[in-house]
Amino acid sequence: MRNPFHTDILEPDQPFCNRVDELRDLTSHGRNGMNVVLFAPRRYGKTSLVKRVQHRLRAENICVIYAQFMRLVSVEDLVHRLAKALISGLHEYESIFEKGKRWLSHFPSIQTTFTIDPATGMPSLDVQMTKRQVDPMVALETIMEEVGRFLEKEDFQVCIALDEFQDIVDIKEPRVEALLREHIQRHKASYIFLGSRRRVLLDIFNNRGRPFYQSAIMMELDTLPKNECVEFIVDQFAQAGKECSAEAAVEIARKVEQYPYYLQALAYRAFELCDKECTTADVARAYETLLENERYGYQGIIQGISTGQLKLLRAIAVEGEAPLTSNSFLQSHNLTLGGVQSARKFLSEQDLIEKKESGHWGIVDPVFRAWLQQAF
Ligand SMILES: Nc1ncnc2c1ncn2[C@@H]1O[C@H](COP(=O)(O)OP(=O)(O)O)[C@@H](O)[C@H]1O
Ligand SMILES: [Mg+2]
Repeated sequence: MRNPFHTDILEPDQPFCNRVDELRDLTSHGRNGMNVVLFAPRRYGKTSLVKRVQHRLRAENICVIYAQFMRLVSVEDLVHRLAKALISGLHEYESIFEKGKRWLSHFPSIQTTFTIDPATGMPSLDVQMTKRQVDPMVALETIMEEVGRFLEKEDFQVCIALDEFQDIVDIKEPRVEALLREHIQRHKASYIFLGSRRRVLLDIFNNRGRPFYQSAIMMELDTLPKNECVEFIVDQFAQAGKECSAEAAVEIARKVEQYPYYLQALAYRAFELCDKECTTADVARAYETLLENERYGYQGIIQGISTGQLKLLRAIAVEGEAPLTSNSFLQSHNLTLGGVQSARKFLSEQDLIEKKESGHWGIVDPVFRAWLQQAF
């Protein structure tokens, strides 16, 4: 019996829970040539959703380009990722082999090579910048200009997704943001900017002093609605030949607070553990194995932060939600106001903590929170 639950990026043909309105709206913005910012914590399904959106646009004969900016290290890296995404997207739209190298001439700064994989016989695509010695900022400017001219000349529509866009900030070259903005605003294309580190991403678009200020429609992705989660789990179990009671499905959704990645991860484990029918007892056991498994990632997170930051993270986890600067919070966790303020800035920029509607601060990831509570 094949487990129907998945925890990698979902391909457009894989089962997808809800997101009906988001899919419709994003597709429509793409079709209309609008720019959109799609933001949510990590593993909420942003990438999977945009892949679906682009799949639909592609079916409407719109050319789609997808570039991943996660952990960018330099301007050169950015240029390379953009170039590769462009050539791949265009090639997919209009094969270089079938139609000749017609549009490649629009991109003289990009050198394209195809190699045939001897094992599969499939061509794989690689790109290089034609002049490697050139200043990477010049290379970026050139490529953005080439894209602009290309979009002017060609009459097909293009939708460009830039995933984990806020990571452009990490390359610490302040001119990048202004340069991208200057070109993007003139490009005849729809851009989707996706990002997980919300504080950093939103600052790019909502801070008056920055180039991208108010240049796109803001769209937030929420957790999945409860009833749809339950329906999704029950359906997937049934289609794969097992049964999940509504009660157990409710329990899965509740345990992970409808967080998309964990919903799948927990359901995956429950499916593995149960016999023919999944019960709440199976869910409880599955949750333990989930925590056990996620532990490695969480340990990596806490190894990457300072003692002061960890102290604050733990204190927030213990409280659930906390008013960080209140005297009672500081005293009961032995924290200083200055220490909390700098740790809060870092932790929220990493999207580990967030300000809740109540005005208090909480841990973004509910399973990480549970682990922190248990581990300390
Ligand atoms: N609509 C959905 N239905 C079911 N599972 C989902 C959905 N959206 C996301 N997921 C789950 O979350 C995981 C993370 O999705 P991903 O697109 O990589 O998120 P993000 O880009 O926000 O980090 C997916 O592998 C999948 O297991
Ligand atoms: Mg993603």
